[in-house]
Amino acid sequence: MRKKIVAGNWKMNKNAEQTEDLLNELIEKMPTETDVQVIVAPTFVNLASAVDHLEFINIDVAAQNVHQAESGAYTGEISADMLKSVGVDIVILGHSERRAIFHETDALIASKVNTALEHDMTVIFCFGEELKDRQSKNHFNVVENQLRDGLFQIEAKDWDNIVLAYEPVWAIGTGETASPEQVQEMHEFIRETVRKAFGSDIAEDVSILYGGSVKPDNAKEIFSNPDVDGGLIGGAALKSDDFIAIVNAI
Ligand code: 13P
Repeated sequence: MRKKIVAGNWKMNKNAEQTEDLLNELIEKMPTETDVQVIVAPTFVNLASAVDHLEFINIDVAAQNVHQAESGAYTGEISADMLKSVGVDIVILGHSERRAIFHETDALIASKVNTALEHDMTVIFCFGEELKDRQSKNHFNVVENQLRDGLFQIEAKDWDNIVLAYEPVWAIGTGETASPEQVQEMHEFIRETVRKAFGSDIAEDVSILYGGSVKPDNAKEIFSNPDVDGGLIGGAALKSDDFIAIVNAI
């Protein structure tokens, strides 16, 4: 079943106290009745406390990364088993910042996806073209390749644990949003690409989120497109009023 989802990617923001404050504000402002799955992704060090904090409220907690190996000599890294052991079973993978700043390749992302799925985690799989790709009208190719090389190694049964997040790099943190028409056009293409590789049932069921400068004042228009099932929110997820306004815009 295709779900409506709004996820907040907090990136490298909020210390322990600030995390608790923002979570308290979200708890207070969350709509009591909603069919939207709301997810927050604080930093690693605040995940366990976030899970505890949100125990009695319908907000799920995601990690922003995971290492592909099970355990061992990987200084500074965090495994899927560690995340699961503190109650986190959702992970964001393939984010453009991980690709660009930390040089994550499609092959590396694919192995992280495989590890997360082996641990029965849900993967929010991010992908999206850079400005130069759109300017050279290569954006559909880039997106198709990212899907094929980073995700399509999975099996049909794994799709229950996959959420797609299309984030055009040129719209992330820039204040520049893709137009509702550009978003719908790409989401339709993504669903078609999934359909060709895995069939109609999977393509219809998978949730495809849009990310890139989503704000309270543009969320409704973006979410009203038939192939947009929610959003992955950066900057606006750090302010409780904005984030909840976006949740309420679906
Ligand atoms: P902004 O909403 O700040 O553009 O960030 C989007 C994003 O990268 C979410 O993962």
